[in-house]
Amino acid sequence: MLLDRSFRRTLIARLLLSAGPSTAAALLVAAPGCGGEPEAAEAAADIRCFEWFDELGACLSREQALDEFHTIYPFCSSGETIVSVASDATRRDGACCYEVIAEDDDPCAVGRPFTLEGHRRTAVPRAADSGWLAHGKGTGPGGMRPSLAELTDEERETLAEGWLRSALGEHASVASFARFALDLMALGAPSSLVEAAHIAALDEVGHARLCFSLASAYRGEPVGPAALPMPGGVPVAAHLVALARAAAEEGCVGETVAALMAAEQRARAEDPAVREALGAIADDEARHAELAWLTVAWAIGAGGEPVRRAVAEVFEAAALSLGRPPPAAAEPPRGRAAALAAHGHLGGAELRELPRTALAQVVLPCARALGLWRPAAAGGAVAPAASA
Ligand SMILES: [Fe+2]
Ligand SMILES: [Fe+2]
Repeated sequence: MLLDRSFRRTLIARLLLSAGPSTAAALLVAAPGCGGEPEAAEAAADIRCFEWFDELGACLSREQALDEFHTIYPFCSSGETIVSVASDATRRDGACCYEVIAEDDDPCAVGRPFTLEGHRRTAVPRAADSGWLAHGKGTGPGGMRPSLAELTDEERETLAEGWLRSALGEHASVASFARFALDLMALGAPSSLVEAAHIAALDEVGHARLCFSLASAYRGEPVGPAALPMPGGVPVAAHLVALARAAAEEGCVGETVAALMAAEQRARAEDPAVREALGAIADDEARHAELAWLTVAWAIGAGGEPVRRAVAEVFEAAALSLGRPPPAAAEPPRGRAAALAAHGHLGGAELRELPRTALAQVVLPCARALGLWRPAAAGGAVAPAASA
């Protein structure tokens, strides 16, 4: 699968020019390609395992295993979040297995997530106009007015669910950028980054409104978010390593993928209201991705080798996720894929593969050009400090 060539090339150039102008030209002709052979992963109910060689000694503790699970399934690879490890390990055929508590997650959630204690948070939906609709953009129940005439009830329901899932993710991104702005302030970032973070938060408000409006239109009644759960408050990043790691995970990976996903959805969409919404979202997400790469460059400049190494680990984890089996994702009803794509909804296979393709064709080549990642065949994830 190849992403839209023009959008991909332009985005790579923008990302690299924001982080390191000298590498941009070289990357524009870089060939995509990374990842390894898929590895077997056991997915029995509530038991999860990872490969563990006898030479490594005893299995990890529960706490260490939780970190390991989060490293193994960092991005678009499992369809679930492992919240806690509930048992000590048992050995099985070269693996350590644990009872875990897992929650369903959007298998290919993209965009900037709002994460607390390692767990993505989104609001639950409310069947009401809670002030998150794009009034003034059309006259449907949610403000936007996609054409519903050719759609079956089942298709409308599928579209409503898909746009609602996007809306809740965009809504959470508002909080993510609000916290990011505080992180930047707490760590002495320049005003340009702080300003861009606030602008991005406002962009996400707009995205959430568009998506809630489309969901409401397909549903035939208003739907919005309840309060976003933040039990125990929201910590601010205490050091540059934490800020850079989050920027790399949520921005360099999440927002770069989000921009490419939205561009691809728009390219496939035919409904004018949907195309308008996705066009605006793709442009904004590309700027958010730039902000993330710029932030990482600033943090490495300010914090040096420990920061660079933390960022490199993020890209290595992303690369490893490409070698894992893709998550399950529902296929659209038989013969309905084109109708749903015309309204911005991509099928299971595309939903699984697009983020992975974006990683392989844009994120990792950019990281490699900036000296922040290199394939295992070229010596591993963390390049020597001199090349940063
Ligand atoms: Fe967004
Ligand atoms: Fe964004």
